[in-house]
Amino acid sequence: MSASVLTAVAWPYANGPRHIGHVSGFGVPSDVFSRYQRMAGNQVLMVSGTDEHGTPISVQAEKEGLTTRQLADKYNRVITEDLQGLGLSYDLFTRTTTGNHYKVVQDLFLALHRNGYVVPKTTTGAISPSTGRTLPDRYIEGTCPICGYDGARGDQCDNCGNQLDPAELKNPVSRINGEKPEFVETEHLFLDLPSFTESLGKWLSTRDGWRPNVLRFAQNLVEDMRPRAISRDLDWGVPIPLDGWRDQPMKRFYVWFDAVIGYLSASVEWARRTGDPDAWKKWWTDPSAQGYYFMGKDNITFHAQIWPTLLMGHNGQGDKGGDPGPFGELNLPDEVVSSEFLTMSGSKFSTSRGTVIYVRDFLREFGPDTLRYFISVAGPENQDTDFTWDEFVRRTNFELANEWGNLVNRSISMAAKNNGGVPAPTSPAPADEELKAQARAAFGTVGDHLKRSRFKAASQEAMRVVSAANKYLSDQEPWKLKEDPDRRDAVLHTALQVVSDANTLLTPFLPHSAQKVHELLGGTGVWAAQPSVREVDDLDEPSLSYPVLMGDYDAEQARWESVDIEVGRPLNKPKPLFAKLDAELGETGPEWAPIQSD
Ligand code: MF3
Ligand code: ZN
Repeated sequence: MSASVLTAVAWPYANGPRHIGHVSGFGVPSDVFSRYQRMAGNQVLMVSGTDEHGTPISVQAEKEGLTTRQLADKYNRVITEDLQGLGLSYDLFTRTTTGNHYKVVQDLFLALHRNGYVVPKTTTGAISPSTGRTLPDRYIEGTCPICGYDGARGDQCDNCGNQLDPAELKNPVSRINGEKPEFVETEHLFLDLPSFTESLGKWLSTRDGWRPNVLRFAQNLVEDMRPRAISRDLDWGVPIPLDGWRDQPMKRFYVWFDAVIGYLSASVEWARRTGDPDAWKKWWTDPSAQGYYFMGKDNITFHAQIWPTLLMGHNGQGDKGGDPGPFGELNLPDEVVSSEFLTMSGSKFSTSRGTVIYVRDFLREFGPDTLRYFISVAGPENQDTDFTWDEFVRRTNFELANEWGNLVNRSISMAAKNNGGVPAPTSPAPADEELKAQARAAFGTVGDHLKRSRFKAASQEAMRVVSAANKYLSDQEPWKLKEDPDRRDAVLHTALQVVSDANTLLTPFLPHSAQKVHELLGGTGVWAAQPSVREVDDLDEPSLSYPVLMGDYDAEQARWESVDIEVGRPLNKPKPLFAKLDAELGETGPEWAPIQSD
């Protein structure tokens, strides 16, 4: 039975190009998952976009001497192109500065407000004593009151992941000029988190199959639910649609408040763009639809606590009840799939420390599939994981080139040379059946892992089929079967069948090379569909236009099943699928990201 599956992918900040740490958290896992779901016959809606409000954007704009809008435009385009290059199959990758997003954010907020889940409060905000300007939370740094980490920011501690209030930091200093901020009174809107204590707790207790650390983290948050500000003293963000707030140039929604609502607004935008403005409901208000959210671990709070409470508040399902808002009864996430961090020599990827590997540079030199494979098989799925060039070289050379590339190459070359096409299996033997059965069975095991976002296990199981096929060829030695062409044909037929099956199993991980293998096996048309960059006009502000990622994924032929290869299909001698990397790369790194010795 076909299910509706929402793949909600964390929105990258439009404050710079993405590095491989970013895409190992939200990008590759969500795409592998979505591609599998589509191949399994489900209706996938995969949405995201660039996150363009808030201080991350203003800070960088100031640095680059651009306006916030210019900066957002610049990196929205760069990021869109990076994600396209990686082959991330978004149904819509948009941005948070669209007219549609503003409207959806405001409508959802008003429902939340009507149901009584928003309270105004006077709080202390930081200002810079030397300039008198407000100092946003992220501009303040100090010691985390919870774990003692020294580099905690005013909004969040990246070490323990807790949300902070800048006034709680010990020894707070301004990141701009190092001065001690002054705290003054200011009026803000708060999400009344305490009135979700019971509803959120209950919901979390019914979550099944989450990665244990994610669920534990989320359950801890319920222990201490305090009102949380959803507005900021800032001129860059979505305006607040309430009397007394609407016209204040320095009051805007907090960037995280508007960003998480992006999942809904992007779904609505997608529906409007496909000509059926209600089409989003299939993924949002049909209770049988499933929703999976992909991100790095610094985003758990917002997806396992804040977003569910916003949805419950809109629906009138918090502890205070209420009525469903204009979007109906919206589905809560089924799973929050969070990755840990990809580190480089132990430290979190960081632009400032110079340990950064940009997606764009990586793609230019190594192509998308080597990175997709590395992240899937060796990424930070359950624990922080160090990226090393040495391991990248090993995985690429031994697993992709020697194991998979070589299997494809020798099977197709031999059949091309001896038969000119796919031979008929005239003299089968038990070993043939065994190997083919193993490949067929892998659809079940690999599929079960992929369904649960166990990408390491899934890719390893798929590669196990490849190894078995290589061993089969070494055992059967078809190159020595000149005198027994019938048996040779049966062996080559078996090898080609398993190449075809393994290619299907590897398609979610390696969609670009899977398309090539499909063609090497004599297939035509689109095997694995790719996203394309399209220039579109804003649906509500026709003077604005921007690039989006969309794709025609229905055109794709890949199905999650073994398909019998067609006897007689012409085959040609293939070129190698993966180039082997120079072993030296493992020691030095590439020129544009050399390994730093200290
Ligand atoms: N921009 C945030 C980050 O990079 C993620 C936002 S996810 C969203 O950490 F759901 F809030 F959009
Ligand atoms: Zn901390």
